[in-house]
Order: sequence, then C-alpha cells, then structure tokens
Amino acid sequence: MRNVILDCDPGHDDAISIIIAASDVSDLKILGITTVAGNVEVEKNTVNALKISELLDLDVPVVQGARRPLVKKSEIAPEIHGETGMDGPVLKDPEISALDGHAVDFIIDQVMQSDEAVTLVPTGPLTNIAMALIKEPRIIENIDEIVLMGGGTFGNWTPAAEFNIFVDAEAAKVVYESGVPVTMFGLDVTHQVIATQDIIQRVGNIDNKIAEFVKELLIFFGETYKNHFGFNGGPIHDACTTMYLLKPELFKTEYLNVTIETKGEYSYGMTVVDTLSVTGREPNTNVALGVDQEAFWSLFEEILKSYSGG
Ligand code: BDR
Ligand code: CA
Repeated sequence: MRNVILDCDPGHDDAISIIIAASDVSDLKILGITTVAGNVEVEKNTVNALKISELLDLDVPVVQGARRPLVKKSEIAPEIHGETGMDGPVLKDPEISALDGHAVDFIIDQVMQSDEAVTLVPTGPLTNIAMALIKEPRIIENIDEIVLMGGGTFGNWTPAAEFNIFVDAEAAKVVYESGVPVTMFGLDVTHQVIATQDIIQRVGNIDNKIAEFVKELLIFFGETYKNHFGFNGGPIHDACTTMYLLKPELFKTEYLNVTIETKGEYSYGMTVVDTLSVTGREPNTNVALGVDQEAFWSLFEEILKSYSGG
C-alpha cells in the first residue's frame, strides 16, 4: 500500500484520477486531496474536489492551497474545463467542507508524520509542492516519488509548453531540481489515451453513478478538445498518474535529464527533455513515453465497474 497525496485542480481529468485512486481496485491510501490554482481559481477547484469526495463517499481531508503561482500571474483554462472548472455533469453543492489551514502545511505535516514514505501526485501546477519543498526541505527524506502530470516534448498552451508547467514554471523548476525522484506523464503519453466515442460507449455500458459521472465528464471534455484542438476526444492526461501507481507495467518510461525553461521568450515553461543524452547531464526524471492502450482501457473499465459494488 502506498500513501499518496493528490494535489490537483479538478478539472475533468483530475476528477477521473481521483476516482481511480479511490476505487476498490486501488491499493493506494489517500492521505488527502490538496487543491491549487490552475484550470480555474483555487476556490472553484476546491468546491469541485469536495463534490467529487462527496459523490465517492470518500472520507479524506480536502485542503485548499495556493491562490496563484510563485512569481507570475495566474492563468486559467475555462475554454477547456468550463467556467466551474468541471462543467458538464451537475453535482449538488457539497455539504462537506475543506479542512482549515493551507495545503502547503498539510503536505508538510503529513509527510513529516508518516511512518511510511509518501508519494506526491500533482496533476495541476506545481505551486503547492514547490512551496512545501521550500518551506520544509526535510520532507524530501520521506517522499519516495513525485508522480506528476505535466510537460512533454511539445506543448498545448504554447508550442513549447504544457499548461501545468507553463502556469508555474518557477515552481516546476524547484520540483525538478529538488532531488526527489520524479516520474513525469507529459503530453507524449497522455495524448495516447484519448477518450474517443468508442471509449465513451464502453463507459456508458457500465451501470453505476460513478461511471455515469465519468461519461458526462468525457463528453464535455471531448467537445472542448474537439473545438479547441480538433481532437476526436479528450486525453485523460491526469488519470495516467494514478493508473501508473496501480499498474506501472502499463507504461513505457525512460530515465532522462529534464530541465525547466524559465527564461525563454518562446519557450517559457518548456520541459527540456534530453532524449538523446546530448547534454551529458545526469538523468533526473522517469519520463513516460508509451502506454499499452488496450490494457489501459481494460483496467479503466474494471475500475469503473468496481463502483457497482460487486
Ligand atoms: C493538464 O492541464 C489541465 O487542463 C488538465 O487537467 C491537465 O492537468 C493538461 O495539459
Ligand atoms: Ca489537472
């Protein structure tokens, strides 16, 4: 059993990632869900995290975190996730509340107190994680891995940069240079798990309220990806992190050097992946590049079916 903290900005694909981690198929122990400014304002992301927790009957703390990136102004993506950050499915207002306090302190306390090492799973901008590493560097000793969604060898927010890294590249730099092992699910691999009509149909055939919720998420996210990028469905980016934690052998990874561009006029927020080892710099990141698609979607179906209670 691995102890995880899901640091996120839900977010359609963040929601799916939480659903995977919380399922009966998963042996992850979720210590908490922390939120960060990203897809939309952090307050909205927190409400979404609470709604998801309530839907799942998930009894774990939700803690709100950074309102804005470390250095630059916030940037949000309502054109992809809608005004609420999770448009599409309609969930009732949550009756549960977020824990008092700040996500950064929650992350530090959980990691420092835990008998077992903790895995951090960021699926939004890396602001909270960087702040925790800066505020209490001793947490490094008890974090076994940071399994994140971000970056890639191309971008989706600029030609060079993926959204999560672009929003807070300074934070990403802190994380990648921290010395903690990083496993990175960038666009190279997340664009291989697109929820096409066929996948939506397979999800639709599963008869429980969580699968119904996921179907609605996929329909909305698929539409915005079609309108914005011309894709034939939404890539469920963030889900790769928790799918990997459940079954690492689904993915092909390479251990490579990755640095974060924080100065470039055209390349700010780029994850510079040294694919051919031309820099001579030591590898620091396990970069996911491939996935067994059929095995991925089969496991995804199995996870959603597990919510039927049998
Ligand atoms: C990332 O940005 C967000 O829109 C998604 O939730 C994902 O974390 C993809 O670039
Ligand atoms: Ca996200």
